[in-house]
Parts: sequence; structure tokens; C-alpha cells
Amino acid sequence: TVLVVDFGAQYAQLIARRVREARVYSEIVPSTMPAAEMLAKNPKAIILSGGPSSVYAEGAPSLDRAVFEAGVPVLGICYGFQLMATTLGGKVDNTGGREYGRTQLTVSKPSSALFEGTPDEQQVWMSHGDACSAAPEGFAVTASTDLVPVAAFENEERKLYGIQHHPEVMHSTYGQQVLEHFLYRGAGLSPSWTTASIVDEQVAAIRAQVGSKRAICGLSGGVDSAVAAALVQRAIGDQLTCVYVDHGLMRKGETEQVEKDFVAATGVQLKVVDAADRFIDALAGVSDPEQKRKIIGREFIRVFEQAQAQIVAEAPSDEPVAFLVQGTLYPDVVESGGGTGAANIKSHHNVGGLPEDLEFELVEPLRKLFKDEVRMVGQELGLPDEIVHRQPFPGPGLGIRIVGEVTRERLDLLREADAIAREELTAAGLDRDIWQCPVVLLADVRSVGVQGDARTYGHPVVLRPVSSEDAMTADWSRLPYDVLARISTRITNEVAEVNRVTLDVTSKPPGTIEWE
Ligand code: XMP
Repeated sequence: TVLVVDFGAQYAQLIARRVREARVYSEIVPSTMPAAEMLAKNPKAIILSGGPSSVYAEGAPSLDRAVFEAGVPVLGICYGFQLMATTLGGKVDNTGGREYGRTQLTVSKPSSALFEGTPDEQQVWMSHGDACSAAPEGFAVTASTDLVPVAAFENEERKLYGIQHHPEVMHSTYGQQVLEHFLYRGAGLSPSWTTASIVDEQVAAIRAQVGSKRAICGLSGGVDSAVAAALVQRAIGDQLTCVYVDHGLMRKGETEQVEKDFVAATGVQLKVVDAADRFIDALAGVSDPEQKRKIIGREFIRVFEQAQAQIVAEAPSDEPVAFLVQGTLYPDVVESGGGTGAANIKSHHNVGGLPEDLEFELVEPLRKLFKDEVRMVGQELGLPDEIVHRQPFPGPGLGIRIVGEVTRERLDLLREADAIAREELTAAGLDRDIWQCPVVLLADVRSVGVQGDARTYGHPVVLRPVSSEDAMTADWSRLPYDVLARISTRITNEVAEVNRVTLDVTSKPPGTIEWE
């Protein structure tokens, strides 16, 4: 394990991902963790992240010297670099100047372990106010910039390395190489964190955890639950039962994908609950977005719990259902404080026949993984591409893409229009370029049109193609006009009732990705 010590940087997760890209397992720990606890994890290397503070600011996060004295190779980045400097007797001052953004770095020690094989002049990404003016004793200065005399240093004997720039961002041209030099040469690690090794490790862990008991997993059609279920299936076979609630708000072909393709690829036991009528009845007369979301959420829990109760009741008593599989990912774990997952959740039981005190233990086979790793594991497990590379789709489904009341007829219209848009985007090879492209039906709006010499009075749909890194912010995608033209022509020709196609050119913020 490589520990990435998080000093409050927006970059810690990115560092951890870059380490994983070098096929070395990494884990993020808060800088407040006591040194003894960090070292007890037996790290093969430690990376100190950047952070927003000045090392001299009151209450600035610090690090116990012991971390540098344990014989574990350490790489300090930005704030971590400065902390390393001050802790070990070097000098950091407030120069008044700041470096921010692309900066020219001059590598001054050709035999440097970190910079070996990279050019003497290279572009790096900087973001700092204070600057290091003297390296600690015993350290060689290996790089500088116009503003900063000591932009990198290393002590090969003690395996301690520091760099002022951010190797994890792509604007640092040789960043990944510098990181890999630290991991492979500095720390002597080898690239062994592969998809196959992840699968093996998780399968063994799941078997050890579940034993001969049974587990349940809810499938949503999304990547995370599908890969989690496939992993657990690989580990415990028929001791796993999956539940898929068809709320009737899925897109064309998605339920079939789960029912047929996913089952064929994994051999999983699947219980499909067709609850479309129930959801559509519950949504009758409702157009308020928040209310729709609440109704869909509430019905979903009820239906899922009933299915769950049935599976629990049917299980043999010597193999009780004791586990619930969840597709929790590593970023969620980090953001919720990074606990080690002893969490027991108590299943809701406002309906259904669950005993009062029934508790499931969680099985979370993806809690160490980033999204891109989840997709690779899915591929390794033989899941269909349509599932592994599926774009995000909201839990409430098409229910929040119909502006106005949700009815069967409107769902059918939207499903057709959406299928055409997806087909054309896929045919144009644009799936990986866009984050997602909701198609929204403005069900309460009508406009006049003309088709085949006749007047029409139909509904508009909105195309909402966006590009994004994480859905927190997004930009509208500049789709090629010919692709937009094809989508528009096909939708207006093939979907009766839709006589106008419009394009949403709003970024997020101010607009959210979904319309409701
Ligand atoms: P917004 O509309 O908030 O959406 O910009 C951000 C991302 O989240 C998805 N989304 C949801 N996903 N349940 C989900 O699982 C939901 O209720 C939900 N609402 C929005 C949306 O598709 C986008 O990717």
C-alpha cells in the first residue's frame, strides 16, 4: 500500500488515482491520523499531498517527524514538500510572489532519481504562495524555477523526495513519469495492482466475509451495482440473489439488458419485480419535480423491501440472508471520512414482512475502487459493454425527464425519442465524448408545425448533451451539426406527437443537468 496523506487538497484523490494508474495500490488517509497509525498500516511508500494552508499559518496541519524517520520512502508534493522542508530543517519563506498555473521547471541535477530521463526544461503545474529557499541538510536540490530556488530536492539514502509542483495534474508534462520514478525506483515497488489481481483479491475477501450464508443485491441497471453483483456472484454463486425493480421509468431496452444480457454474462439469480403500474398510478396527477422524486423514492423502497422480505423468508434456516451488497465506491468512502467499513445498516421495514431486528451486514466489494477501475473490473468479469460503459442515468428515470404529469403515453413517446438520440450518438462515436445526453419531453407545451401539408400541434423535446468530469459542473456539448440534424429529423419523423426538437445550451451552473 502507498498512503496518500491528505492535507486538505483537492488533489489527494487525483494523486491516489495516478498511483493506481501506475498499477500500485494507494489509499488516502487524513493528515490528522497519528503517525503510529499510518505506520501500522505498513505502507511501502508515503505521499504527502498539497493543501491550501501556509506551513506557518496558525493551526496549519503538520506531520510527526516519525513519518520521515521510519525508513519508509516519502514523496512530498507542494504543501507536503514544504512541510518536509521545515520539519527536517530546511527553509520556507513567504516570498511575496506566487506561482500559479503552467510554469517552466529547470531540472538541475541530471542524476536525480525522480527526474531521470526527463528533459532539463519541462512544463509543470504550480499552485503555491510560500517557497522553499533552502533544502534540509543532506538533501540535494534537483530543480528550480525563476521564482523558486528550491523547487525539488531529494535524499536518496533516506529515500526522501520533495517537489513543489503537482505531478498529478496533466499540465505537468512529465508528472506521471516523476511519480512512477518515485514508486518504482524510490520505493522499489512493482506494478502489480492489476484488474485481475483486484478480482482475485475481492473474490477471496467476499468468500471469507459471507461464508455459507446468503446475500441480496439490488440492481439498478447502472455500472456500480452491476459490477458489485458480478463480483459477488463470482465469489459465492447462487448464494446471491439479485433484485431488479422495474419502475416503468427506464429507457428503451434497459430492463431487457439487465434481464437478459447481464444474467447471461454472469449467471446471476435474478428476481425481477414488474412494478410499472404501481409507480405510474402513484405518479398520476403529479407534476411537481420534488414530489415526483419523493413518490418514486418511496415506492422504490417499498417494492424493494417486499422483494427482500420474500427472499429472506424463502431462504433455508441454515443459510440465512445476512448480507446486503452495495456498490459503494472509493470516492464516497473518502468523502464520508474514510472509515474502514464496519457499518451495519438496518434495513427499513415500514412495509413488508421483515422481522423487527433484522440487520444486514454490508458487502461492498467496490469500496477500494475508483470509477474507471470499476469499469475495468466489469470488463474483466465479461459484462457487456453497454453496461460497463453506461452513462449516468438518474434513479427516478424518465419520470424526471417529462416536464408535466407522467403518463404511460408520454413515457412511450419519450422512450422512442431518447432511443433515437442514443442510437445516433453511438453511431457517430460520441458516447465517450459526452457525459450524458438527457432527452426531455415538454409534455405541457405544444407548438404548431406542418407535416405532409397538414398542420400539427405537437410537443417539443429538448436535447441536453453535456460534458463533465463529475456532474458537479458541466458544459453543454458542442455536438456536430450533422449529428444534431439527424437526431432532429428522425425524432420528428418517427415519433408522432413530437414536432419540434430543441437544444439546451446552458452550462451547469446555472442549469442542472436534468431538467427536474
Ligand atoms: P443534476 O441534474 O443535479 O444531475 O445536475 C447531476 C447528475 O446526477 C444524475 N442524477 C441522479 N442520479 N438519482 C441518481 O442516481 C437521482 O435522483 C438523480 N438526479 C440526477 C444526473 O443524471 C446527472 O448525471
